[in-house]
Amino acid sequence: MKTSHVPLTYHPEKLKRELKPFYIGADDKDVREMLAAIGLKSLEDLYGHIDDSVKMARVPMPKHLSYEELIALVNDVAQKNKRKISFLGDGLPQYKVTDVVGPVCSIRGLTTAYTPYQPERSQGTLQTLWIYQSLVSQLTGFEAINASLYDRSTCLFEAMNCALRLVKDSTTVIVANTLYPGDIEVIETHARETGMKIARAPVNPQNGKLDVEALKKLLNTTPLVAAVAFPQVNNLGNLEAVDEIVDLCSQNNVKSIAVVDPMLLGKGGLKAPVKFGMRMQGSDMVVAEGQHLAIGPNFGGPGLGIFGIRYHENDKLSIRSTAGRYIGKTTDLKGRECKALILSTREQHIRREKATSNICSNQSFVATAAGASMLARGDEGFEASLRTARTLAEKAAEGLSQFEGIELKFKGSPFFNEFTLKLPVGATEFIHTASAAGFQVGVDVSNRHPELKGENLLLMSFTDIHSEKDVDQLLAFFATQFERTKSATPAQKIPSVMLRTDAPEIPKLSSSDILSYYERLGKQNLSPDDGIYPLGSCTMKYNPYINDYAASLPGFTNMHPEAPLEDVQGCLEVLFEIQEAFKAITGLPGVVTQSVAGAQGELVGIKMFQAYHRDRGEADQRNVIIIPRSAHGTNPATATMAGYESKVVDGKIYGIYTVEALPNGEMNLGQIKEFLKTDGHRVAGVMVTNPNTAGIFETQFKEMSALIHAAGGLVYMDGANMNAVAGIVDLNKLGVDAVHNNLHKTWTIPHGGGGPGDAIVGVSHRLLDFMPGVQVVKKDGRYDLTRAPKSCGSFHRHFGNFAHKIRAYTYIKALGADGVQRMSQVAVLSARYLFHKLAKSFPTLPAEAQSSPRMHEFILTLSPEIFKKIEAAGTPKANTIARIGKLFLDFGFHAPTVAFPEQYGLMFEPTETYSKSELDEFAEVVEAILKLVSEHPEVLKTVPHFTPIDRVDEVQANKNPVLTEKITAHLPEIIPDRVDAARLRNSTPGDLCAHILKAHQNSI
Ligand SMILES: Cc1ncc(COP(=O)(O)O)c(C=O)c1O
Repeated sequence: MKTSHVPLTYHPEKLKRELKPFYIGADDKDVREMLAAIGLKSLEDLYGHIDDSVKMARVPMPKHLSYEELIALVNDVAQKNKRKISFLGDGLPQYKVTDVVGPVCSIRGLTTAYTPYQPERSQGTLQTLWIYQSLVSQLTGFEAINASLYDRSTCLFEAMNCALRLVKDSTTVIVANTLYPGDIEVIETHARETGMKIARAPVNPQNGKLDVEALKKLLNTTPLVAAVAFPQVNNLGNLEAVDEIVDLCSQNNVKSIAVVDPMLLGKGGLKAPVKFGMRMQGSDMVVAEGQHLAIGPNFGGPGLGIFGIRYHENDKLSIRSTAGRYIGKTTDLKGRECKALILSTREQHIRREKATSNICSNQSFVATAAGASMLARGDEGFEASLRTARTLAEKAAEGLSQFEGIELKFKGSPFFNEFTLKLPVGATEFIHTASAAGFQVGVDVSNRHPELKGENLLLMSFTDIHSEKDVDQLLAFFATQFERTKSATPAQKIPSVMLRTDAPEIPKLSSSDILSYYERLGKQNLSPDDGIYPLGSCTMKYNPYINDYAASLPGFTNMHPEAPLEDVQGCLEVLFEIQEAFKAITGLPGVVTQSVAGAQGELVGIKMFQAYHRDRGEADQRNVIIIPRSAHGTNPATATMAGYESKVVDGKIYGIYTVEALPNGEMNLGQIKEFLKTDGHRVAGVMVTNPNTAGIFETQFKEMSALIHAAGGLVYMDGANMNAVAGIVDLNKLGVDAVHNNLHKTWTIPHGGGGPGDAIVGVSHRLLDFMPGVQVVKKDGRYDLTRAPKSCGSFHRHFGNFAHKIRAYTYIKALGADGVQRMSQVAVLSARYLFHKLAKSFPTLPAEAQSSPRMHEFILTLSPEIFKKIEAAGTPKANTIARIGKLFLDFGFHAPTVAFPEQYGLMFEPTETYSKSELDEFAEVVEAILKLVSEHPEVLKTVPHFTPIDRVDEVQANKNPVLTEKITAHLPEIIPDRVDAARLRNSTPGDLCAHILKAHQNSI
């Protein structure tokens, strides 16, 4: 290891899975034995039923790298970035990252766990999110804080959609032009082709604030307004007249959506949005970016969308129109206090096209880290950081105003810690000069508002990462460029009405106390490190430590996405390499790296479809998206969110047209053909998961694509299941126009207890011109950015969840062309082997698809006799599958996916991570569960028995949601495990069955 390389913080040789070739559990002997067991000769035979015409001969990528080569590579790339004294903020301010964040981000029980759908085995994640919700509630004053959406911009769109639902017959949201332009671009991209109209309220060029008179006029003249969205700190650094704006909203009966910076709401900062308005009535919703509460800029992501809505005696219903996940306080069957996900009947997995949003994976772990970090700061820490930020901003503003030709642009407008400077030279040119002198000096905002055009404007940000010395150096640099001839202009005093007078009362805890608390929480979850995590469709595979190591290199974490391109060549190299890798993996010519989750990847795809049809003058005509019934809920929810409203008019179906499955488990192509005959001209596209959610490859996909294309439509492949076919199937040959690859599934980034995920979207030649965001190109050995000529817009304020791109980049470099294929093959082999073993005892679903070869996952069910026995013993059939899922928790495993896509199915996905002996042991557990419920069906009434809590009373939790508690230095109690999950996994299934019976007896 070179001395310039950052040392590893772990010992790979001591980790069970870290140094296995391609992180695959099965060795050659295992592979031979598993193949023999299922009657195949080679790994290639696993794909014998797939036509050769859609296969890839080899993945056009280099060979894999060794562990040492990987370490060297990621360090070398990180070192290509240039860290300088940075005054970049612009909606992503840079604060000190507290000491607890690194260690909390290393708690594998928290980082690698799945979304807490099984509350009895997920109190760890639920509790961290509860702390986050409660602390953000203390900061903002809002009673309901969601945990959590993607980032500020998409969160704002969700808030705007929510306002449309809340204000009857409304169509329009007025959006302040003083919001960050990246956010405005994202909401406009989302709103296009939907029923939402956006009216833009201009800046007042004199004071650099929202033009309140113009807003009044807009409110008077715009029909059907739902809401006004406005910032507290605007895109020129100025503090808006939030009281006046909220009052205007109240007077006009429209919702107010305040966009704030949560950091600035700490003690000693700005007034909380719950108090905006002359009557302190508060804004109706709050939206914020929370990334910097937890982590550094990370070249723009992962972000953290903070959303809050009022929830009190007079308004208990608005929350039901919101998007995203909430954690609620509830009790288990024995009355123990615990937490659970609540209000999920709004979400896509239940409501599908009627859901409030398509969001599924979100930015959960950033919320967890933000919660820990807020505890590390406490009121005192916030106050100290804000004092530094304010003091240094004042000092800089005064100092800089002494130079000839330089002025504080909006002298009369108060700012907190960001301000706009007027320069006597071009701002972009000056930024490059400053970069050469060691400063990332600010953001060029000269073109931000047409009303201010023609002026050279620079936006600068000051926070606790700066010292007096940094500001002195900045002033010294300015002195090399300009004459110091004037007396200083003092910064405008902030009126007391804009400031926070109370304290949020966030307790300050020591790093060691926080860490030991979060470590204990981590133990309440399960991790794929420990053993099979059989959640079908979720691909819970091993998350290599080296990926996290690479992503945490300071050369990456400290880079701001608005730094000059010459300073971020390392970050751009990662993005470029990711683009190239996914072109090779998918066979498609274009790649979008902006989307932060699978569902957002779907939206990227469908929005590109719309742009394509719009370009051909067919946008209105193409009003149907074809989706199989077995699709994940995000698919119909995405189509709706994109603007395909489902309805039947004069017998014609609009919006989503649902396709049924054939008895062999594949989609009914005949049904699609029939629909195309009459309605082909109306079809915008299809969304098909392949392999599908029953784990079966759609062998007629290519034929379907040709038919859709012939009708003028486009083909979206949901690539959540790429783990089965990456490096084997060429999506270009399949006829795919857009596909998302969930990085948090196939490409090993951790699930984070629900996110952040990430999704890379592959794009066909048909859609290249419509790709959103920017593409990285390489010219003369230097990386640069371009935009597609007819871009459909933007889905992220910057480059998506950049830190996750580094993880996927590191993984893909570790696999190389050879490893990518091997990964898919062994994933399929493991699933088929397990299926082969278990199908001897369990009926499988789809019922008539026994002979359809399974790919990476499969579905089991119970015989009618066993269902009857269980029902006779007191568990209704409707609850049986969910209860069997809970029985897995008693064996120390996570439940398989229950009741999706088949109501009475248990879906298993073992992945390639585990060895044959681990698969065999797991099969024994599944068999033991079957035996137990056949012989003692009554145990299902009391499952689970060994988790910290008994079964959770979710009905109660939803009836009367309790969403926060006042967090004090005495953190919420952690109920210990009754039996440690590792001990459960290490017991024999026979012993465990005996214990379960005993525990059952004791609990009745
Ligand atoms: C088949 C399928 N499609 C789409 C998604 C949505 O992906 P994300 O959760 O990343 O938004 C999932 C997530 O589980 C999935 O399994």
